[in-house]
Amino acid sequence: MKNLKVRLSTPTVNYKELNKIKAIFKNSWLGYGPNVEKFENLWSKYFNVKHSVGLNSCTAALHLSLAVNNFKKNKKVLVPAMTFSASAASILYCGLKPIFVDIDPKTLVLSFDDLKKKYTKDCVAIIAVHFNGQPCEMEKIVPWAKKKKMIVIEDCAQTCGGDYKGKKLGTWGDFGCFSFQEIKIMTSGGDGGMITTNNTKLIKDLKTLSYHGWDQDPLARHKKSLKGNKKIKHWNYSITKLGFKYNMTDLMASIGMAQLKKLSFFNNRRSNIIKSYVKSLKDCKKIKAAFPYEFKKSSFWMFSIRCKKRDLLIDFLKSKKIATTVYIKPLPLHPLYKKFKSKIPNSLKIWKELVTVPTYPNMTKSQLRYVIKSLKEFDRSL
Ligand SMILES: Cc1ncc(COP(=O)(O)O)c(C=O)c1O
Repeated sequence: MKNLKVRLSTPTVNYKELNKIKAIFKNSWLGYGPNVEKFENLWSKYFNVKHSVGLNSCTAALHLSLAVNNFKKNKKVLVPAMTFSASAASILYCGLKPIFVDIDPKTLVLSFDDLKKKYTKDCVAIIAVHFNGQPCEMEKIVPWAKKKKMIVIEDCAQTCGGDYKGKKLGTWGDFGCFSFQEIKIMTSGGDGGMITTNNTKLIKDLKTLSYHGWDQDPLARHKKSLKGNKKIKHWNYSITKLGFKYNMTDLMASIGMAQLKKLSFFNNRRSNIIKSYVKSLKDCKKIKAAFPYEFKKSSFWMFSIRCKKRDLLIDFLKSKKIATTVYIKPLPLHPLYKKFKSKIPNSLKIWKELVTVPTYPNMTKSQLRYVIKSLKEFDRSL
Protein backbone atom coordinates (compact mmCIF):
# COMPACT_ATOMS: atom_id res chain seq x y z
CA MET A 1 0.00 0.00 0.00
CA LYS A 2 1.50 3.35 -0.94
CA ASN A 3 2.21 6.03 1.64
CA LEU A 4 -1.04 8.00 1.70
CA LYS A 5 -1.32 11.38 3.26
CA VAL A 6 -4.37 11.24 5.54
CA ARG A 7 -5.80 14.46 6.88
CA LEU A 8 -7.42 14.54 10.29
CA SER A 9 -10.71 15.74 8.87
CA THR A 10 -12.21 17.44 5.86
CA PRO A 11 -15.69 18.92 5.41
CA THR A 12 -17.99 16.84 3.20
CA VAL A 13 -19.41 19.32 0.70
CA ASN A 14 -20.33 19.00 -2.98
CA TYR A 15 -22.50 20.50 -5.73
CA LYS A 16 -25.54 20.54 -3.41
CA GLU A 17 -23.97 23.17 -1.17
CA LEU A 18 -22.62 24.98 -4.27
CA ASN A 19 -26.11 25.17 -5.78
CA LYS A 20 -27.43 26.67 -2.55
CA ILE A 21 -24.62 29.24 -2.53
CA LYS A 22 -25.37 30.12 -6.18
CA ALA A 23 -29.04 30.67 -5.33
CA ILE A 24 -28.06 32.98 -2.49
CA PHE A 25 -25.74 34.97 -4.76
CA LYS A 26 -28.48 35.23 -7.37
CA ASN A 27 -30.84 36.55 -4.75
CA SER A 28 -28.26 39.16 -3.66
CA TRP A 29 -28.95 38.62 0.04
CA LEU A 30 -25.95 37.26 1.89
CA GLY A 31 -26.30 38.53 5.46
CA TYR A 32 -28.84 37.94 8.22
CA GLY A 33 -32.16 37.32 6.50
CA PRO A 34 -34.97 34.93 5.58
CA ASN A 35 -32.75 31.90 5.11
CA VAL A 36 -31.54 32.08 8.70
CA GLU A 37 -35.17 31.97 9.82
CA LYS A 38 -35.82 29.03 7.47
CA PHE A 39 -32.80 27.12 8.78
CA GLU A 40 -33.83 27.80 12.40
CA ASN A 41 -37.32 26.43 11.71
CA LEU A 42 -35.94 23.30 10.03
CA TRP A 43 -33.57 22.82 12.96
CA SER A 44 -36.39 23.13 15.52
CA LYS A 45 -38.40 20.56 13.58
CA TYR A 46 -35.49 18.13 13.31
CA PHE A 47 -34.74 18.39 17.02
CA ASN A 48 -38.38 18.65 18.05
CA VAL A 49 -37.84 21.83 20.07
CA LYS A 50 -39.80 25.07 20.26
CA HIS A 51 -36.98 27.46 19.34
CA SER A 52 -33.62 27.58 17.61
CA VAL A 53 -31.35 30.59 17.09
CA GLY A 54 -28.75 30.57 14.32
CA LEU A 55 -25.40 32.04 15.38
CA ASN A 56 -21.86 32.39 14.09
CA SER A 57 -20.34 29.74 16.44
CA CYS A 58 -20.96 27.34 19.28
CA THR A 59 -18.83 29.64 21.42
CA ALA A 60 -21.47 32.34 20.87
CA ALA A 61 -24.22 29.80 21.71
CA LEU A 62 -22.55 28.85 25.00
CA HIS A 63 -21.94 32.50 25.90
CA LEU A 64 -25.53 33.56 25.19
CA SER A 65 -27.02 30.53 27.02
CA LEU A 66 -25.35 31.79 30.19
CA ALA A 67 -25.65 35.55 29.49
CA VAL A 68 -29.41 35.43 28.91
CA ASN A 69 -29.89 34.17 32.49
CA ASN A 70 -28.30 37.27 34.05
CA PHE A 71 -26.62 35.35 36.84
CA LYS A 72 -25.03 37.44 39.57
CA LYS A 73 -21.29 38.00 39.07
CA ASN A 74 -18.98 35.43 40.72
CA LYS A 75 -21.60 32.71 40.85
CA LYS A 76 -20.24 29.29 39.87
CA VAL A 77 -20.69 27.03 36.86
CA LEU A 78 -19.81 23.32 36.87
CA VAL A 79 -17.91 22.29 33.74
CA PRO A 80 -15.73 19.28 32.91
CA ALA A 81 -11.97 19.83 33.10
CA MET A 82 -11.60 17.82 29.89
CA THR A 83 -13.21 20.07 27.34
CA PHE A 84 -12.42 22.61 24.66
CA SER A 85 -11.61 26.08 25.95
CA ALA A 86 -14.87 27.63 24.69
CA SER A 87 -16.97 25.65 27.22
CA ALA A 88 -15.20 27.44 30.07
CA ALA A 89 -14.51 30.76 28.30
CA SER A 90 -18.27 31.32 28.11
CA ILE A 91 -18.30 31.24 31.94
CA LEU A 92 -15.56 33.86 32.22
CA TYR A 93 -17.24 36.08 29.60
CA CYS A 94 -20.20 36.37 32.00
CA GLY A 95 -18.07 37.18 35.06
CA LEU A 96 -18.83 33.75 36.54
CA LYS A 97 -16.42 31.17 37.97
CA PRO A 98 -15.71 27.76 36.44
CA ILE A 99 -15.67 24.79 38.83
CA PHE A 100 -13.79 22.03 37.09
CA VAL A 101 -15.35 18.59 37.42
CA ASP A 102 -13.41 15.38 36.80
CA ILE A 103 -14.29 12.85 34.10
CA ASP A 104 -15.51 9.30 34.52
CA PRO A 105 -12.45 7.14 33.70
CA LYS A 106 -14.49 4.80 31.51
CA THR A 107 -16.73 7.13 29.50
CA LEU A 108 -14.51 10.25 29.67
CA VAL A 109 -17.49 12.56 30.16
CA LEU A 110 -18.49 14.48 33.29
CA SER A 111 -18.46 12.18 36.34
CA PHE A 112 -21.85 12.44 38.03
CA ASP A 113 -20.27 11.52 41.39
CA ASP A 114 -17.68 14.26 41.10
CA LEU A 115 -20.34 16.70 39.90
CA LYS A 116 -22.24 16.13 43.15
CA LYS A 117 -19.03 16.47 45.18
CA LYS A 118 -18.04 19.77 43.54
CA TYR A 119 -21.48 21.34 43.93
CA THR A 120 -21.89 24.22 46.38
CA LYS A 121 -24.90 26.47 46.82
CA ASP A 122 -23.20 29.17 44.70
CA CYS A 123 -23.48 26.95 41.61
CA VAL A 124 -26.03 28.22 39.09
CA ALA A 125 -25.42 26.10 35.99
CA ILE A 126 -23.86 22.95 34.57
CA ILE A 127 -22.23 22.74 31.16
CA ALA A 128 -22.57 19.10 30.12
CA VAL A 129 -20.11 18.40 27.30
CA HIS A 130 -20.82 15.35 25.14
CA PHE A 131 -17.13 14.74 24.58
CA ASN A 132 -16.45 13.27 21.13
CA GLY A 133 -20.17 12.48 20.89
CA GLN A 134 -20.17 10.32 24.03
CA PRO A 135 -23.35 11.35 25.90
CA CYS A 136 -23.23 12.63 29.48
CA GLU A 137 -25.61 10.88 31.89
CA MET A 138 -28.41 13.33 31.20
CA GLU A 139 -31.09 11.19 32.91
CA LYS A 140 -29.21 11.76 36.21
CA ILE A 141 -27.84 15.26 35.62
CA VAL A 142 -31.07 17.01 34.57
CA PRO A 143 -33.37 16.01 37.49
CA TRP A 144 -30.56 16.56 40.01
CA ALA A 145 -29.81 20.02 38.56
CA LYS A 146 -33.50 20.91 38.69
CA LYS A 147 -33.65 20.01 42.39
CA LYS A 148 -30.69 22.30 43.00
CA LYS A 149 -32.26 25.06 40.84
CA MET A 150 -29.40 25.03 38.35
CA ILE A 151 -29.79 25.30 34.60
CA VAL A 152 -28.24 22.70 32.28
CA ILE A 153 -26.47 23.73 29.08
CA GLU A 154 -25.51 20.93 26.72
CA ASP A 155 -22.33 21.55 24.78
CA CYS A 156 -23.08 19.59 21.59
CA ALA A 157 -20.13 20.93 19.59
CA GLN A 158 -18.91 17.34 19.16
CA THR A 159 -22.24 15.66 18.49
CA CYS A 160 -25.17 16.49 16.24
CA GLY A 161 -28.41 14.60 15.80
CA GLY A 162 -27.62 11.66 18.08
CA ASP A 163 -30.15 10.10 20.48
CA TYR A 164 -29.54 9.23 24.09
CA LYS A 165 -32.13 7.04 25.81
CA GLY A 166 -34.71 7.94 23.17
CA LYS A 167 -34.19 11.71 23.27
CA LYS A 168 -31.98 13.88 21.07
CA LEU A 169 -28.82 15.25 22.64
CA GLY A 170 -29.19 19.01 22.86
CA THR A 171 -32.82 18.73 24.00
CA TRP A 172 -32.32 17.29 27.49
CA GLY A 173 -31.09 20.49 29.12
CA ASP A 174 -32.37 24.07 29.13
CA PHE A 175 -30.17 24.95 26.14
CA GLY A 176 -28.39 22.89 23.49
CA CYS A 177 -25.38 24.48 21.79
CA PHE A 178 -24.14 23.21 18.40
CA SER A 179 -21.07 23.95 16.28
CA PHE A 180 -20.92 24.12 12.49
CA GLN A 181 -17.21 24.77 12.39
CA GLU A 182 -15.48 23.21 9.41
CA ILE A 183 -14.38 19.93 10.99
CA LYS A 184 -17.50 19.31 13.05
CA ILE A 185 -20.22 16.78 12.19
CA MET A 186 -21.83 19.26 9.80
CA THR A 187 -20.80 22.76 8.74
CA SER A 188 -22.41 26.01 7.64
CA GLY A 189 -19.38 26.99 5.59
CA GLY A 190 -16.39 26.98 7.95
CA ASP A 191 -18.03 28.34 11.10
CA GLY A 192 -21.48 28.64 12.60
CA GLY A 193 -23.58 27.59 15.56
CA MET A 194 -27.11 27.07 16.84
CA ILE A 195 -28.93 27.18 20.16
CA THR A 196 -31.96 25.02 20.79
CA THR A 197 -34.35 25.68 23.67
CA ASN A 198 -37.94 25.18 24.78
CA ASN A 199 -37.76 28.32 26.93
CA THR A 200 -40.20 30.72 25.24
CA LYS A 201 -39.70 33.36 27.94
CA LEU A 202 -36.03 33.87 27.10
CA ILE A 203 -36.12 33.56 23.32
CA LYS A 204 -36.60 37.29 22.63
CA ASP A 205 -33.69 38.16 24.92
CA LEU A 206 -31.52 35.54 23.23
CA LYS A 207 -32.20 37.12 19.84
CA THR A 208 -31.67 40.60 21.23
CA LEU A 209 -28.29 39.60 22.69
CA SER A 210 -27.25 37.96 19.42
CA TYR A 211 -27.86 41.20 17.48
CA HIS A 212 -26.34 44.25 19.19
CA GLY A 213 -28.94 44.30 21.96
CA TRP A 214 -31.69 45.62 19.65
CA ASP A 215 -35.29 45.13 20.72
CA GLN A 216 -36.34 44.79 17.05
CA ASP A 217 -35.34 41.89 14.86
CA PRO A 218 -33.64 43.36 11.75
CA LEU A 219 -35.47 40.98 9.43
CA ALA A 220 -38.84 41.95 10.93
CA ARG A 221 -37.89 45.65 10.50
CA HIS A 222 -37.08 44.98 6.86
CA LYS A 223 -40.41 43.23 6.28
CA LYS A 224 -42.25 46.14 7.90
CA SER A 225 -40.35 48.60 5.69
CA LEU A 226 -41.96 47.14 2.59
CA LYS A 227 -45.52 46.81 3.77
CA GLY A 228 -47.74 47.46 6.72
CA ASN A 229 -49.14 50.44 8.51
CA LYS A 230 -47.65 53.71 7.21
CA LYS A 231 -47.91 55.22 10.66
CA ILE A 232 -45.58 52.59 12.12
CA LYS A 233 -42.00 53.78 12.08
CA HIS A 234 -40.52 50.50 10.85
CA TRP A 235 -36.99 51.88 11.15
CA ASN A 236 -37.25 52.58 14.85
CA TYR A 237 -35.50 50.39 17.37
CA SER A 238 -34.14 50.63 20.90
CA ILE A 239 -30.96 49.20 22.34
CA THR A 240 -32.12 47.49 25.49
CA LYS A 241 -29.09 45.34 26.38
CA LEU A 242 -25.37 45.22 25.79
CA GLY A 243 -25.56 42.78 22.89
CA PHE A 244 -23.10 41.06 20.60
CA LYS A 245 -22.65 40.56 16.85
CA TYR A 246 -23.24 36.81 16.91
CA ASN A 247 -25.91 36.30 14.23
CA MET A 248 -25.75 33.72 11.46
CA THR A 249 -25.90 34.89 7.82
CA ASP A 250 -28.08 33.70 4.92
CA LEU A 251 -24.98 32.41 3.15
CA MET A 252 -24.15 30.22 6.18
CA ALA A 253 -27.77 29.14 6.58
CA SER A 254 -27.99 28.04 2.94
CA ILE A 255 -24.99 25.74 3.38
CA GLY A 256 -26.31 24.59 6.77
CA MET A 257 -29.66 23.59 5.24
CA ALA A 258 -27.94 21.50 2.55
CA GLN A 259 -25.83 19.82 5.26
CA LEU A 260 -28.82 19.18 7.54
CA LYS A 261 -30.32 17.02 4.78
CA LYS A 262 -27.16 14.89 4.91
CA LEU A 263 -26.87 14.75 8.69
CA SER A 264 -28.02 11.15 9.15
CA PHE A 265 -25.73 10.08 6.29
CA PHE A 266 -22.80 11.85 8.03
CA ASN A 267 -23.60 10.16 11.34
CA ASN A 268 -23.86 6.72 9.69
CA ARG A 269 -20.59 7.16 7.85
CA ARG A 270 -18.79 8.25 11.02
CA SER A 271 -20.30 5.33 12.95
CA ASN A 272 -19.17 2.87 10.29
CA ILE A 273 -15.64 4.27 10.23
CA ILE A 274 -15.42 4.16 14.03
CA LYS A 275 -16.89 0.62 14.06
CA SER A 276 -14.09 -0.45 11.68
CA TYR A 277 -11.48 1.12 13.94
CA VAL A 278 -12.92 -0.51 17.06
CA LYS A 279 -13.20 -3.96 15.44
CA SER A 280 -9.76 -3.86 13.85
CA LEU A 281 -7.98 -2.70 17.02
CA LYS A 282 -9.68 -5.25 19.30
CA ASP A 283 -6.62 -7.48 19.43
CA CYS A 284 -4.12 -4.68 19.96
CA LYS A 285 -2.36 -4.87 23.31
CA LYS A 286 -1.37 -1.25 23.84
CA ILE A 287 -3.88 0.69 21.78
CA LYS A 288 -7.52 0.91 22.86
CA ALA A 289 -10.60 2.88 21.86
CA ALA A 290 -10.86 5.89 24.18
CA PHE A 291 -14.23 4.78 25.57
CA PRO A 292 -16.77 1.99 24.93
CA TYR A 293 -18.58 3.24 21.83
CA GLU A 294 -22.27 2.30 21.70
CA PHE A 295 -23.61 2.80 18.23
CA LYS A 296 -27.39 2.91 18.68
CA LYS A 297 -28.59 6.14 16.99
CA SER A 298 -25.32 7.71 18.01
CA SER A 299 -23.58 10.80 16.70
CA PHE A 300 -19.89 10.32 17.41
CA TRP A 301 -17.39 12.81 16.10
CA MET A 302 -13.76 11.69 15.81
CA PHE A 303 -12.21 8.37 16.79
CA SER A 304 -9.99 8.73 19.84
CA ILE A 305 -7.46 6.24 21.10
CA ARG A 306 -5.91 5.55 24.46
CA CYS A 307 -2.26 4.56 24.41
CA LYS A 308 0.31 4.88 27.22
CA LYS A 309 2.98 5.58 24.57
CA ARG A 310 0.81 8.31 23.04
CA ASP A 311 3.63 10.68 22.06
CA LEU A 312 5.60 7.89 20.37
CA LEU A 313 2.44 6.86 18.52
CA ILE A 314 1.93 10.43 17.28
CA ASP A 315 5.53 10.52 15.98
CA PHE A 316 5.08 7.14 14.33
CA LEU A 317 1.90 8.22 12.55
CA LYS A 318 3.56 11.48 11.55
CA SER A 319 6.31 9.44 9.85
CA LYS A 320 3.50 7.68 7.95
CA LYS A 321 2.00 11.03 6.91
CA ILE A 322 -1.12 10.42 9.00
CA ALA A 323 -2.41 13.50 10.81
CA THR A 324 -3.35 13.25 14.50
CA THR A 325 -4.25 15.69 17.22
CA VAL A 326 -4.37 15.89 20.98
CA TYR A 327 -7.61 17.73 21.08
CA ILE A 328 -7.89 18.40 24.76
CA LYS A 329 -5.53 19.19 27.59
CA PRO A 330 -7.33 19.59 30.95
CA LEU A 331 -8.22 23.27 31.22
CA PRO A 332 -6.65 23.87 34.68
CA LEU A 333 -3.27 23.05 33.07
CA HIS A 334 -3.55 26.21 30.95
CA PRO A 335 -2.22 29.45 32.49
CA LEU A 336 -5.60 31.24 32.20
CA TYR A 337 -7.42 28.55 34.20
CA LYS A 338 -4.71 27.65 36.73
CA LYS A 339 -6.31 29.68 39.49
CA PHE A 340 -9.49 27.62 39.18
CA LYS A 341 -7.70 24.31 39.65
CA SER A 342 -9.49 21.53 41.51
CA LYS A 343 -9.06 17.80 42.20
CA ILE A 344 -9.29 16.12 38.78
CA PRO A 345 -7.08 12.97 39.03
CA ASN A 346 -8.74 11.07 36.15
CA SER A 347 -8.42 13.98 33.72
CA LEU A 348 -4.77 14.56 34.67
CA LYS A 349 -3.92 10.90 34.10
CA ILE A 350 -6.01 10.08 31.04
CA TRP A 351 -5.38 13.12 28.84
CA LYS A 352 -1.75 12.03 28.45
CA GLU A 353 -2.93 8.81 26.79
CA LEU A 354 -5.44 10.30 24.35
CA VAL A 355 -4.94 10.96 20.68
CA THR A 356 -7.46 11.57 17.89
CA VAL A 357 -7.00 9.95 14.48
CA PRO A 358 -8.54 10.74 11.04
CA THR A 359 -12.33 10.34 10.92
CA TYR A 360 -14.56 12.01 8.34
CA PRO A 361 -17.44 10.87 6.14
CA ASN A 362 -15.54 10.99 2.84
CA MET A 363 -12.50 9.16 4.18
CA THR A 364 -11.79 6.45 1.62
CA LYS A 365 -11.60 2.73 2.40
CA SER A 366 -7.92 2.66 1.46
CA GLN A 367 -7.18 5.64 3.75
CA LEU A 368 -8.97 3.90 6.62
CA ARG A 369 -7.16 0.60 5.93
CA TYR A 370 -3.87 2.47 5.86
CA VAL A 371 -4.44 4.17 9.23
CA ILE A 372 -5.55 0.87 10.81
CA LYS A 373 -2.56 -1.00 9.38
CA SER A 374 -0.22 1.69 10.74
CA LEU A 375 -1.84 1.56 14.19
CA LYS A 376 -1.46 -2.21 14.30
CA GLU A 377 2.15 -1.95 13.15
CA PHE A 378 2.87 0.45 16.00
CA ASP A 379 1.14 -1.83 18.51
CA ARG A 380 3.24 -4.82 17.42
CA SER A 381 6.41 -2.77 17.73
CA LEU A 382 5.86 -2.04 21.43
C1 LIG B 1 -16.59 20.91 23.19
C2 LIG B 1 -16.54 22.15 22.36
N1 LIG B 1 -17.27 23.22 22.75
C3 LIG B 1 -17.29 24.36 22.04
C4 LIG B 1 -16.56 24.49 20.88
C5 LIG B 1 -16.58 25.79 20.14
O1 LIG B 1 -17.17 25.65 18.89
P1 LIG B 1 -17.08 26.83 17.82
O2 LIG B 1 -15.76 26.69 17.13
O3 LIG B 1 -18.22 26.58 16.88
O4 LIG B 1 -17.20 28.09 18.54
C6 LIG B 1 -15.78 23.42 20.43
C7 LIG B 1 -14.98 23.57 19.22
O5 LIG B 1 -14.19 22.78 18.85
C8 LIG B 1 -15.78 22.21 21.19
O6 LIG B 1 -15.07 21.17 20.82
